Amino acid sequence: MKIPIAVKLSPFFTSLPNMARRFAAAGANGLVLFNRFYQPDFDLEQLEVVPNLNLSTSADLRLPLSWIALLYGRVPIDFALTSGVHTAEDVLKAMMAGANVAMLTSELLANGISRVRDILKDLEAWMVEHEYESIEQMRGSMSQQSVAVPAAFERANYMKVLNSFDSRLP
Ligand SMILES: Cc1cc2nc3c(=O)[nH]c(=O)nc-3n(C[C@H](O)[C@H](O)[C@H](O)COP(=O)(O)O)c2cc1C
Repeated sequence: MKIPIAVKLSPFFTSLPNMARRFAAAGANGLVLFNRFYQPDFDLEQLEVVPNLNLSTSADLRLPLSWIALLYGRVPIDFALTSGVHTAEDVLKAMMAGANVAMLTSELLANGISRVRDILKDLEAWMVEHEYESIEQMRGSMSQQSVAVPAAFERANYMKVLNSFDSRLP
């Protein structure tokens, strides 16, 4: 009997690409990016550790999105994206980065399971409007290997962003 295995990763490995390759070589079928560690808060008056569950927002999508875009086509394995998927646009971004699966937790906890129906409807409407016939057609189209400017994912570009931000500082 063969059991498909997906490994849910933390974003805190020293070399994520190296780990991803090693999981693939060890026989994993899928990688789930990323686990969100539970982070309790401190109550300064009571000096207690307070259980505090923060649901994600779409801004949390950026971390798994960048990593899947970097790994897609380089590591022979399926990707699921989890963290920050709240809308059809988020699902589309996940697919274009190279994910096979977009997972939702916070959105469904906040707005109920029926949100899935609305997101699927929005997804179909977007695909019709932009003349996509399948998800396969878009998968990986925004991965680092596919975009016109691969350096947009890299540190050199980050320096450029920081320099352009300087002029907006008081
Ligand atoms: C209440 C709650 C319970 C969770 N329990 C688990 C769990 O048991 N195992 C797991 O891998 N992830 C668990 N997660 C993490 C989610 O599966 C998901 O990876 C994370 O919330 C990020 O996705 P989101 O932005 O859609 O919330 C849990 C998340 C929440 C909010």
